[in-house]
Amino acid sequence: MSGRTAPCGARSRRFSREWATRASVALALAVALALAGCGGSDATEADLERLELAFESADVTLGGEVFGDSCSVCHGSDGSGGVGAALGGVDERLTVRDHLAVVWTGRGSMPPFGGILTDAEIAAVVAYQRSTFGDG
Ligand code: HEC
Repeated sequence: MSGRTAPCGARSRRFSREWATRASVALALAVALALAGCGGSDATEADLERLELAFESADVTLGGEVFGDSCSVCHGSDGSGGVGAALGGVDERLTVRDHLAVVWTGRGSMPPFGGILTDAEIAAVVAYQRSTFGDG
């Protein structure tokens, strides 16, 4: 490691190929940690209350756009999964609150979206996933 701390969100292009090849696993970890550091705090009670309120008037059409832009790369445009979990029946596994929290905070190798997407976008994509890949 270089000992320098990249600013939040910065993607250094200066890693030498040699370094990157030898330490690609370390690089992947560093990127994951940097991403987590930019928004990866747990959802607070206040965050969840705000998101639940936004969910009540969620725009499913917007949610479909957000899904295509930010989620389908890992979850597949049909929700069948890939890098990310398969989303079929997601509404039976997660309450609305837990679903909002996963998107806000991230989980495992899924990055956090809190502070990256707006509350309205998070609420919309959750509504989209529940109605498209579950029963509502
Ligand atoms: C970089 C890949 C990646 C991206 C981008 C991504 N996810 Fe995920 N997602 C994952 C992975 C991996 C998991 C499984 C996490 C675990 O449990 O270890 C997951 C899990 C989930 C779950 C939990 C599913 C369940 O059945 O418990 C939800 C909900 C979810 N993602 C929603 C989203 C939404 C919404 C977006 C876009 C805003 C998104 N994800 C973007 C990788 C990703």
